[in-house]
Amino acid sequence: MHILVYDDYAEMSAAAAGHIASRVKAQPGIVLGLATGSTPVGMYAELVELHRQGGLDFSRVTTFNLDEYCGLGSDDPRSYERFMWEHLFAHVNLDRMRTHVPYGAARDPEAECIRYEEMIRAAGGIDLQVLGIGMNGHIGFNEPGSAPNSRTRVVRLAEQTVQVNRSKTEADELPASALSMGIGTIMDAREIILLANGDAKADIVRQAIQGPITPDVPASILRQHPDVSVFLDRPAARLLKLD
Ligand code: PGA
Repeated sequence: MHILVYDDYAEMSAAAAGHIASRVKAQPGIVLGLATGSTPVGMYAELVELHRQGGLDFSRVTTFNLDEYCGLGSDDPRSYERFMWEHLFAHVNLDRMRTHVPYGAARDPEAECIRYEEMIRAAGGIDLQVLGIGMNGHIGFNEPGSAPNSRTRVVRLAEQTVQVNRSKTEADELPASALSMGIGTIMDAREIILLANGDAKADIVRQAIQGPITPDVPASILRQHPDVSVFLDRPAARLLKLD
């Protein structure tokens, strides 16, 4: 694992966006795995700037998002599909047909999960996966105890996850289940970057990076992947022992 520590959120976001931009330039048809949440908002804003000012070209890029709430269609303001439109899709030249978010309102969510895995496979697999980390160590919506070989499936969210996510949105209610790529799906990506910022994440970041590798801390499994870079701001890195 490469651990990269930046002074603040703005620097971390710019560095992560720069990393993605260099990969997109080297491989214009790259397949990106994307994350939602508060953490990558600054990174998406930087990518939009790199497109507007620097002409970063997304026209051949394919994207697959990690997860979506069960029951929410793309018109629902709480949906992750809407989040992606607000923060990235509407502002860069991505081809609409090449952006993918699990369809939360699918009548048969299990079938949607199988279809999603097939689409990832048909696209040639994910080249670069972006991740945040939950307060309980989840990646995507793979809560503690998720199987390391799990694939895209319907998952029940931890009570803490629903509460944390509700506190970050204006929504009174959030679904307690979601469609999420599995840990196995994430581990199949050729490269992974994980972002975390803020003091509140310091302890789970320490557990993920320097604690035992265990399904109880899903992000710790990433240490078994050969190409992971972790982008942190100083507060999130404060409990790490770094040389
Ligand atoms: P956050 O969520 O970026 O809003 O902290 C991260 C996550 O739950 O994976």
